[in-house]
Amino acid sequence: MLSRLLNARRGDRCWILPTFHPQDVESGRVYLPFSTDAILDGWKQVRPRFWYHPFHRMSSFLGRFPQGLVRYFITKFTLPGQVILDPFCGCGTVPFESILLGRRGLGCDSFLYATTLSAAKVEHPPKAAVLRYLRGLSRRLAAECLDQNLIEKTDEPLARHLLIYYHPRTLHQLKKLRALLLSDLSNAAHERQARFIQAVVCGILHGDSTFSLSLPTQETWSASPEYVRRFAAAKGLVAPDRDVIECIRAKLRKMWAAPLPTRHGRVWQADVTSEGIALPRSSVHFVLTSPPYLSVRDYPLDNWIRLWFLGSSVNRERGRLLATARVDVYETRMQYVLKEMFRILRDNAVAVIVVADVTKFESRGQGGTTYRSAERLASMATKVGFGVVGIIEDNIDLKKRTGYFFHYKKALDDKDIPLRRGVRHDRILILSKGEGRLYDDLVPDYSTCSQLTLSIHG
Ligand SMILES: C[S@@+](CC[C@H](N)C(=O)[O-])C[C@H]1O[C@@H](n2cnc3c(N)ncnc32)[C@H](O)[C@@H]1O
Repeated sequence: MLSRLLNARRGDRCWILPTFHPQDVESGRVYLPFSTDAILDGWKQVRPRFWYHPFHRMSSFLGRFPQGLVRYFITKFTLPGQVILDPFCGCGTVPFESILLGRRGLGCDSFLYATTLSAAKVEHPPKAAVLRYLRGLSRRLAAECLDQNLIEKTDEPLARHLLIYYHPRTLHQLKKLRALLLSDLSNAAHERQARFIQAVVCGILHGDSTFSLSLPTQETWSASPEYVRRFAAAKGLVAPDRDVIECIRAKLRKMWAAPLPTRHGRVWQADVTSEGIALPRSSVHFVLTSPPYLSVRDYPLDNWIRLWFLGSSVNRERGRLLATARVDVYETRMQYVLKEMFRILRDNAVAVIVVADVTKFESRGQGGTTYRSAERLASMATKVGFGVVGIIEDNIDLKKRTGYFFHYKKALDDKDIPLRRGVRHDRILILSKGEGRLYDDLVPDYSTCSQLTLSIHG
């Protein structure tokens, strides 16, 4: 099988993928007959810094897919015009890359920050409509901000925390802008533009660029006020007096530096682990996704300032997400999602699931127990009818991951932080409903992407 796959000729339009029997899966013997290097002709070599559409960088999202990986699998497993779904779409890498490549991109997520970002990318409003809306918004904001002194007097505890990040005038504008955008979401004429601007503002809420609204700090996640207070004092940092509308315009110039896809996709908010996937049977050609791994990440806490801006809260969002350390709960809910994925996929379609093993450390210095996510999902998938094509090992360099700092190194280095959980291995699980097909003659084209980047930096 290995040699058959590796010797595939360019002229062969597509491969019928082999699948393993459930007993192979149970006994842990399922590994792809091809290795990452053999199948992935390029995405690992593509340097992410020089390869992205600027919309992918609308706002940071921890745990996002590398665009190159997404482009690779979309090209290998689908044809233009086909329907692609990511049921845990995060910041929308899969649906956005799908529409860039002329496919129909669908995404679902239960987290408000995730759906705001994804919808802004795949249901993006025309530039002219955004600029018109922004002019109106600017006028309304100026009228709202005539009274300058509200922040110091406010009894809203959150605003006090936010004053560590923001100059009082900037925070004042932000609060007013937040209220205007939230009210525009319920106005059909403004809704799309308001959501788009919400996503753009999320991308500049904190960071260290010239148009970040906060004092220079992490862009990726919202650090705790106490940490930022200490950091700012140690480094002598002060919050800049930034004009919010000017910063939005600067961010938009960056985001619009490359042509926008002509197609649109669709994104909706739902808990797929209890509500299922709101699509008809056999309507999707390819699923590419990365579900949560037990409770490794606290997405709401990582984004607490963005959630404030979007009118939600850490606790409300935590209630919407699958994040549990209980393996039985995790597996029951993931089994349901797999069943739903099987239902909505067409015959002979493929699902690619990227998951990491999770190691739980009972106590410091003790060897941990590892939950082998991909193998467990493979086993569960066979029970709902999937064939297991295999599992690609993707040995990640932990030191290059932000999560490494959060969940592993920090805990190893600091004796006061309990060493609880760590991500060790990313694995790529490939499932098929019937005979999966791999288009061997379709080669992902990364060249257009570096040209895009040249135009951005040029
Ligand atoms: C590993 S991230 C996916 C990141 C995504 N691949 C990207 O490129 O941004 C997992 C996602 O699952 C979402 N999620 C967690 N529980 C969920 C649930 N019950 N239903 C739908 N989405 C959920 C999280 O909000 C998060 O965005």
